[in-house]
Amino acid sequence: MPDDPLRRFRRWFDEARRAGVPLPEAMALATADTAGRPSVRFVLLKEADEHGFVFFTDARSRKGRELRENPRASAALFWDAIGKQVRLEGRTEGVAPAEVDRYWKTRPRESRLAALSSTQSAPIASRASLVATWRKLARRHPTDDVPRPAYWTGFRLVPDAIEFWRHRDHRLHERELFVRTRRGWTRTLLQP
Ligand SMILES: Cc1cc2nc3c(=O)[nH]c(=O)nc-3n(C[C@H](O)[C@H](O)[C@H](O)COP(=O)(O)O)c2cc1C
Repeated sequence: MPDDPLRRFRRWFDEARRAGVPLPEAMALATADTAGRPSVRFVLLKEADEHGFVFFTDARSRKGRELRENPRASAALFWDAIGKQVRLEGRTEGVAPAEVDRYWKTRPRESRLAALSSTQSAPIASRASLVATWRKLARRHPTDDVPRPAYWTGFRLVPDAIEFWRHRDHRLHERELFVRTRRGWTRTLLQP
């Protein structure tokens, strides 16, 4: 199908990777609390398929809290070397624990220990106390077998809108908006 936005996404992502874009999976992720106050931060996009766009995080973080209260998100990726941006919008859902476990096992021991050492987005007295906690946990878990804490989890953004933006000369950029309907995706061109 020529107008499948997920295939298009994958094509663009591969193009960005081949072009040597550093961290092509860096994705700005916006969430909002129930008062409508937005917040944005980068996360790493770990999966992108017909089920949605997956990232992993600490459920106790600000984004985790906001996604619990208001399970909708918006995200953007920009690849300067190829002059392309993709924007996503949709609902979010939790990733199944077995899938989170699979990803957890691919993470280096040091990163797993870091996830165990930190309560993401909570204040700490000093960086030294964080490092001391990490070292203590490293002694407690001397092998690769570092258990996944329940709060370390994944979210899937299930897009109902995907916009592809392509740089063109004279600021006459190309924008294509795909919107999900019951019968598939509709495609509309937008003015730059
Ligand atoms: C390039 C980049 C990638 C990041 N990837 C992640 C990620 O995948 N998961 C995550 O929880 N935080 C990631 N972070 C840290 C977040 O940007 C953020 O500081 C943290 O998740 C806390 O955000 P919150 O307080 O809004 O929840 C990344 C930061 C950068 C700069």
